[in-house]
Formats: sequence, structure tokens, C-alpha cells
Amino acid sequence: MEKQIVLLPGDGIGTEVIQAAKEVLTTIAEEFNHTFTFSTHDIGGTSIDKNGTPLPNETVEACKKADAVLLGAVGGPKWDNNPSHLRPEKGLLGIRKELGLFANLRPVKGFSQLLHASPLKEEVVKGSDLLIVRELTGGLYFGTPSERQNDGQSVVDTLAYTREEIERIVDNAFKCAQRRRKHLTSVDKANVLESSKLWREVVEEKKGDYPDVTVEHMLVDATAMKLITAPTQFDVIVTENMFGDILSDEASVLTGSLGMLPSASLRDDSFGLYEPVHGSAPDIAGQGVANPLAMILSTALMLKHSFELDKESKLVESAVQAVLEEGYHTADLNLLGEGKKVNTDTMTKLIVDFIKAQSTSKV
Ligand code: IPM
Ligand code: MN
Repeated sequence: MEKQIVLLPGDGIGTEVIQAAKEVLTTIAEEFNHTFTFSTHDIGGTSIDKNGTPLPNETVEACKKADAVLLGAVGGPKWDNNPSHLRPEKGLLGIRKELGLFANLRPVKGFSQLLHASPLKEEVVKGSDLLIVRELTGGLYFGTPSERQNDGQSVVDTLAYTREEIERIVDNAFKCAQRRRKHLTSVDKANVLESSKLWREVVEEKKGDYPDVTVEHMLVDATAMKLITAPTQFDVIVTENMFGDILSDEASVLTGSLGMLPSASLRDDSFGLYEPVHGSAPDIAGQGVANPLAMILSTALMLKHSFELDKESKLVESAVQAVLEEGYHTADLNLLGEGKKVNTDTMTKLIVDFIKAQSTSKV
């Protein structure tokens, strides 16, 4: 199989974890006779410094021609006081919008070696395995007008959705639920917001098309509470952009490490952008100690969703599982028992070696 992959390292540890992902994918290509070609482009704060914009046209065009995109992370204190059009985050929001990536999938599943580091009691979090499907190109993030009104004395942020935008994300979430444990929780604030009432109506209309999926509606405040009191009761959660942003950060710490969580941003074709849920970690950037596993697990999502390479995807996931079982961890992970602390390069090499060993032993 031949695929063109765009790499967007971005800022901070983005560069280091993207390099790890490239090494893993190169190994997969060699072992399974695929041809993956990579090209690297600018985004975020480093792009502001270099090109005067967080998202150059050249980057957008390169992504549009590619089969899939891997993104490291954007942001850092250096650009915190920039005006809003010169913020690294604008690059990320812009690329999602330009590429039409409306469905953000954020799976949260614990590794048993890390559960003891969860802020929740192990018996509460044990067995949690949920997927947040977050709408990514609408709502408050893209409301207009976005500038201040009345000489800067008032502001307005608009939560706008069309029926069609809600339908496509709800369909996507129902399909995800069909491939999992067939339970969908639709999260809204229908006791207050008009946009949520339309959201609820659409879910009610759509549920007849997916009779094998059970659906419940839950208010966003109650969901925030249930996520920490009874996380195992969730399978797939679908919600609008801002609610999804907040709930996915809450859910990301349930399993004991943010450094392990991948994400996929998709549309209706096979194209997708894949990135770790964690940020650019400027405090440890450039030291070679970043945890590359969330980025590596993001490549597994890419192999599965964009390239339909299920065997290769599972092998990458088993490699991550195996190195943790052997006790290896980066500095951010608090592993049970006596762990073997390694840096980014060594962790990547362990994954690569596992993939090589497994794929040869199966020939
Ligand atoms: C995320 C991030 C972004 C978002 C920021 C960096 C704009 O928090 O991917 O969740 O809010 O979508
Ligand atoms: Mn976020």
C-alpha cells in the first residue's frame, strides 16, 4: 500500500514525539511492504516565528493532497500574549476547519499498570473504556462575530449549529457505538440552550436508524459528575465542541496518564488528522524525555481509520502494551512496582524492536 503522510510537529515536545511516530511507521512499512512517504510542514508557534502565521497556506495545501496527517502539539508560553490571530491554537483550529474534520474521536481506556495512578479509587475506574465523539468544527469555537463590540465594552460568543452539522456527528457517533458496546450517551444542556434542544431532537430522530444501539440523554453538568463517580457506565459519548473539549480533558485523567491518550479527527471519507491529547509540554521540551506513546497510539488510529490496516494497527497497540508490561516507562508515567525509566529514543526503540520481532515471528 502506498500512502502520503504529512507530519506537523508544531511546538515543544511535538517535534520529539513526531520523530518517534515516523520511526514506528517506517518500521511498519518495512515489515509489511508498504510505502509511506512523509513530508513535514509548519504549524503553531514555530510557524508564527518562521512565517508570521500559525497556519501557512502551503501547510493547508500539503495536507489536502495527503492521505493522512499526524500532528504533534501546538502552543507555549512564548506566544501566550500574542493577539488572537497570532496564537498557535489558531493554527490547530484552522487546520481542523480547512480540512472539514468534524468528528473528533477521543478514546479513553486504561492500562492496568497505570490505574493505581488515577485520581479515582481503582475500584471506581477499573474497567473504564469509553469513547468521546466531539463535534469539532462548529459551536462556540467558530461563532461570529468574534471581535469585541461597543468599543470593546461588550462581547458575544455565538453557539451556532445547523441541523446538518448535528446530524453528521450524531450519525458518526451511532456508527462508533455499533462497533463497540452499543450504548450512546448524548450530552447537552437542553434545559437551557436552544442549540441543545435541536441536538436532542436530532438524536431522537436518528435513533430509529440504529435500533441495536441504546441511547440516553444526559445534561453536561451531570455528565461531568458521572464521569468521576461512575466512569464505567459510559460507552460512547457524543457532544458539541466546547462540552467535548471540557469533558475529554476530565476523562483523560481517569486512567492515570494523559501521556497515553491518542485522538483522531475525521470526516466522512478515510482522510484524518491524528494527534495526542496531551499538549506541547514546554517545561520538558528539547530534553529527549517526552513520552511518545500517545503519539505512537495515534499512528495506530491512523493505520486503522485512514488506511484500514487493522493488523498493523493492532501490532502497534500490542507493542505499547508489551513495553509497559515489561516495566518500561518515561518520566511522566507512574508505573506499578519497580519500573525501568527510559527516554524518548529508548522507548521508541523498544516499540520498534517489538514490532520487528513480532512481524518476523509471524512470517
Ligand atoms: C484540544 C485543545 C484545543 C481545543 C485548543 C488548543 C485550541 O484544547 O485539542 O482539546 O480546545 O480544541
Ligand atoms: Mn482541549
